[in-house]
Amino acid sequence: MLEQISELKAKALEELEASSSLIELDEWQNLYLSRKGQVKSLLKEIGKLEDPQDKKAAYGEINPLNKELERLLEERKESIQKAELDQQIASEREDTSLPGTTGGQGSMHPINTVLEEVCGIFERMGFQIWESPHVETDQNNFEMLNIPPHHPARDMQDTFYVSEDVVLRTHTSPGQVRAMRALAPEPIRVLLPGTVYRNEQITGRSEIQFNQVEGLAVGTNITMADLKGILEEFVHQFFGPDRRMVLRGSYFPFTEPSVEVDIDCNLCGGSGCGVCKKTGWLEILGAGVVHPKVLANGGYDPEIHSGFAFGLGIERMVMLRHGINDIRHFYSGNLRFLEQFD
Ligand code: PHE
Repeated sequence: MLEQISELKAKALEELEASSSLIELDEWQNLYLSRKGQVKSLLKEIGKLEDPQDKKAAYGEINPLNKELERLLEERKESIQKAELDQQIASEREDTSLPGTTGGQGSMHPINTVLEEVCGIFERMGFQIWESPHVETDQNNFEMLNIPPHHPARDMQDTFYVSEDVVLRTHTSPGQVRAMRALAPEPIRVLLPGTVYRNEQITGRSEIQFNQVEGLAVGTNITMADLKGILEEFVHQFFGPDRRMVLRGSYFPFTEPSVEVDIDCNLCGGSGCGVCKKTGWLEILGAGVVHPKVLANGGYDPEIHSGFAFGLGIERMVMLRHGINDIRHFYSGNLRFLEQFD
């Protein structure tokens, strides 16, 4: 019997040592220490022994063994629980010395950067920003600007119609009429920046949506010389003091005389290349002396008042400044394009 006890002890200790999880410990406990476990069955066997000496000796072995196994089980349980907890803590541990992850930082769209810069230059010359609606009446977009129905000039600006007599503005010029009507007969210097819309085929050179900045000055004795002076100042501030500018005769129904303004091509230095179509000059804006009919529509007396107006395309300014050859990049949302302007 004593031999059986010591065999049991050796086996139980070996298996306890080998168990490495709480589940295995449970199984071990069932096998040895439960009511139907091996210790209990040995006890039963010992109870059946005839010789009191043998019985005593056997009890003297198995009772301490029972206690010891219980104690060792508790110890083993604790150490496994601690190991599992340590492992969990280690796996959830954050390395607080690592650098933080930050989201990408946005930046100004190049169109907005240039729009603000252009507005700033004219604001310092005394022009005030004036906002006007993107959805316009046919009247303000065309008729008040001396473009009657069926006038061939309407073909220059393909139009998105909202209804028969409401349009998406095709240029910022209807703002001229709105500003004059709000301020006449006071002298005015206003700047009308914003998006305009044209129902055109989208190509590398034309978009259906782009930005213009319109300028309008009305007062007494305002002439083409004033227009030329402020535009020259603008060109020098925006493109640099050495940039040359010429006025070229043109036609707009709402200005008379009308001009287009060119600057010398910086790509070929004026000798002629693909970008300037071999002319050495690049067109940057349309302008002119406000037509008397438009002055009258705005509430000014053309006998007393005169004025000038100009309209420049912002996308074109950005393209010239950064050497961008396709207008579609601006609205593509392509980050590789936009990140160049951070
Ligand atoms: N509105 C004209 C255009 O969009 C530009 C312009 C503005 C011309 C003011 C003359 C005076 O083409």
